[in-house]
Amino acid sequence: TFKPLVFSGVQPTGNLHLGNYLGAIRKFVALQENNDCIYCVVDLHAITAQLVHDDLRGQIRSIAAAFIASGIDPKKHIVFNQSAVPQHAELAWIFNCVARIGWMNRMTQFKDKAGKDRENASLGLLAYPSLMAADILVYRATHVPVGDDQKQHLELARDIAQKFNIDFQEKIRATGTGVDMVVGEEKIHGYFPLVEPLIDGPAPRVMSLRDGTKKMSKSDPSDLSRINLMDDADDIARKIRKAKTDPEGLPGEIEGLKDRPEADNLVGIYAALADRTKADVLAEFGGQQFSVFKPALADLAVHVLSPISGEMRRLLDDTSHIDAILRDGGERARARAGKVMADVFDIVGF
Ligand code: ADP
Ligand code: NA
Repeated sequence: TFKPLVFSGVQPTGNLHLGNYLGAIRKFVALQENNDCIYCVVDLHAITAQLVHDDLRGQIRSIAAAFIASGIDPKKHIVFNQSAVPQHAELAWIFNCVARIGWMNRMTQFKDKAGKDRENASLGLLAYPSLMAADILVYRATHVPVGDDQKQHLELARDIAQKFNIDFQEKIRATGTGVDMVVGEEKIHGYFPLVEPLIDGPAPRVMSLRDGTKKMSKSDPSDLSRINLMDDADDIARKIRKAKTDPEGLPGEIEGLKDRPEADNLVGIYAALADRTKADVLAEFGGQQFSVFKPALADLAVHVLSPISGEMRRLLDDTSHIDAILRDGGERARARAGKVMADVFDIVGF
């Protein structure tokens, strides 16, 4: 069997927001306790949707600073940026030859990001999930904490691993590189694990503050739609005050949030920030107006986020510390990925 290993990544594009924090980074922090973890700033993914960036290096440092400021320990675990480890792109090429075009065409994120003019999207944007599978599997990682929006990509990573394992079954056996594993009903000798998503928690998907049916996103043109990790207390309070709600107050029970996406989202955010259940939050605030709940939510958000943004500012003041962390993480990641790629070259027969 495979040794449990956690891998996840965040793109260095735009400001990190509360959705990234609650859906991803905070889980990264919690998982360190009992797991071996690899956390990556996925800079190769950053050029899939937009080729030219003003300050990509600055963005990479800023994500790494967010990881460290949130409590990730770069000595016990690995923090690095993707382009420092050439094996990601190497394995992605092999996976491009494993994956089928039809699989890629079905990805809803591609459809969203490519928009109407699909013929004019980059080939990299279409192949993005194949690189994401390589990011994970180049370490033979078994568990991936991500937001709910990445679920389909993780299923694709499983499909790629499974097809590789089955197509190369005899080669894997002949090279002695694999392990016995059960895939569905079948017992096979495979090389890559079938990754498990870790998507649970009270706020797997944080929605826009302006529209409860859209996810909070870096690419939303409305700045009022998201709380950025680096927002100050005034910004946070203002955005929550202006957050869309309906005329009713807070219900006493979860059922009362049905068909009220904005109310549901704010209660979910409170629950996630407080590490409580939504039912618990409603037990406290049920029957109150949003004019009472919103200031409480703003105070809580400031309480959780301000130590992180403060530490991020300190870390980004002198970039040598972050650069040293990324350099050291890159070295350790290359050593591990290099071993896997040596096996893969053996299996493929290069
Ligand atoms: P974005 O979607 O804003 O471009 P990324 O694709 O870099 O951000 O995602 C980084 C991580 O944050 C991923 O694990 C993703 O699932 C998570 N994430 C992004 N947006 C949200 C959201 N609104 N709610 C929960 N998790 C999110
Ligand atoms: Na995303």
